[in-house]
Amino acid sequence: MQRLKGFREFYPEPLPPGEAWSCDVRQHVFDAWRRVARRYGFREYDGPPLEPLALYTAKSGDEIVGQLFNFVDKGDEAVALRPEMTPTVARMVASVERAYKKPIKWFAMPQLFRYEAPQKGRLREHFQLNCDIFGEADPAADAEIVALLVDVLRGLGLTSEDFVVRLSSRKAWQGFFEAQGGREGMAYEFFQAVDKIEREDEATMARRLEPTGVTLEAVRHFIAAGEPTTELQGVLNNLHARGLGDFVKIDYGVIRGLAYYTGVVFEAFDRKGEFRAIAGGGRYDNLVRSLSGGRADMPAIGFGMGDVVLALLLKERGRLPSFASTVDVVVLLEDESLRPESLGVVQRLRDRGLAVDYSLVPMKGDKQFRRALEVGAGHTVRLDRDAVGLVARVKNLKTRAEQVIAVDDVAGHAFD
Ligand code: HAM
Repeated sequence: MQRLKGFREFYPEPLPPGEAWSCDVRQHVFDAWRRVARRYGFREYDGPPLEPLALYTAKSGDEIVGQLFNFVDKGDEAVALRPEMTPTVARMVASVERAYKKPIKWFAMPQLFRYEAPQKGRLREHFQLNCDIFGEADPAADAEIVALLVDVLRGLGLTSEDFVVRLSSRKAWQGFFEAQGGREGMAYEFFQAVDKIEREDEATMARRLEPTGVTLEAVRHFIAAGEPTTELQGVLNNLHARGLGDFVKIDYGVIRGLAYYTGVVFEAFDRKGEFRAIAGGGRYDNLVRSLSGGRADMPAIGFGMGDVVLALLLKERGRLPSFASTVDVVVLLEDESLRPESLGVVQRLRDRGLAVDYSLVPMKGDKQFRRALEVGAGHTVRLDRDAVGLVARVKNLKTRAEQVIAVDDVAGHAFD
């Protein structure tokens, strides 16, 4: 029985041959996500992995709706596995906003599901860090979100030589569309066409743009000029003041595919252009209002960062630590008659918080010792009977120095 296409299994390191996804790497990434989000004063939330289908068909846009894992459940309800977190968090915030001080700064690390054609950096499930600020329309919030995105990647050891955040603006594009005499009611189609500009050939692009009333030449010219709006200039200044100027640039080649964005939008890419986007986000000031039927109304901005491209990039750039031992002490059982006393020692050391392992069944002493070396344990402890009675032989596996101590002193021993 094979796993489904586009889904992953996560193994402990060292990885078995042919396997690419490690639970140690995933934990390393999750730890950084959580650490840096908390450093910015964000609080963690979560939502349901299964949602009403209508949550996405209403607001996310055609692209993501075409990728839904959806079905009708046993109660005849049309449901979908969440393909993104933004509609869920917008609904959650809308329903409880009075209970929280503004701005609301929240993060989550959901597993998301999209029925995409699996390719490098794109699978049918991924984990995504989501950080969003609700209730603040000032560009200071946009800058804070971009700074957080930069710091998450810096927190994983990446530098301004590894990645850049390309900043753009739906407002700038909307202004351009209107100035060009774009056809009324075609703005969404226009944004969708521009979103594909880096992936499609000249003829396809021209064909897509034709019904919107804007020419490809004008679009290319607008991107090349890259004139920042006042709002974007404010974001740039803010990031420069923090010393993060090298991590961002204005680039109207980014417009984002999702339908709900209203203002600043951005995507993070590796500098060499080898991978798909590491992260993407933007301002969506109308989503809370439209999902709550007008009951709540709050500006919002945030981003999503997937674990797939990120893990590939960290590996490729050699920024992953080695995931050595997770065992502090191995208790060796050479004399089976001492198993009850040894189990007592195992228990006391674990109670103290140390990671302790031992052989569940009788095993040759030298084999147990080899295992202790293989798992990279720091120390071994072996109970032994000598002239004075029961003692514990504590061996430091780095220096190979052995100390003999009383069994009752093992739990309090400094294993360093
Ligand atoms: P998104 O651009 O669809 O935005 O996804 C954000 C990131 O998630 C991407 O840049 C990529 O790293 C990762 N990602 C997306 N789809 C896949 C996939 N099939 N396989 C692997 N990784 C993937 C959103 O989802 C927005 N809701 C983000 C947001 C939050 N905007 C405002 N707040």
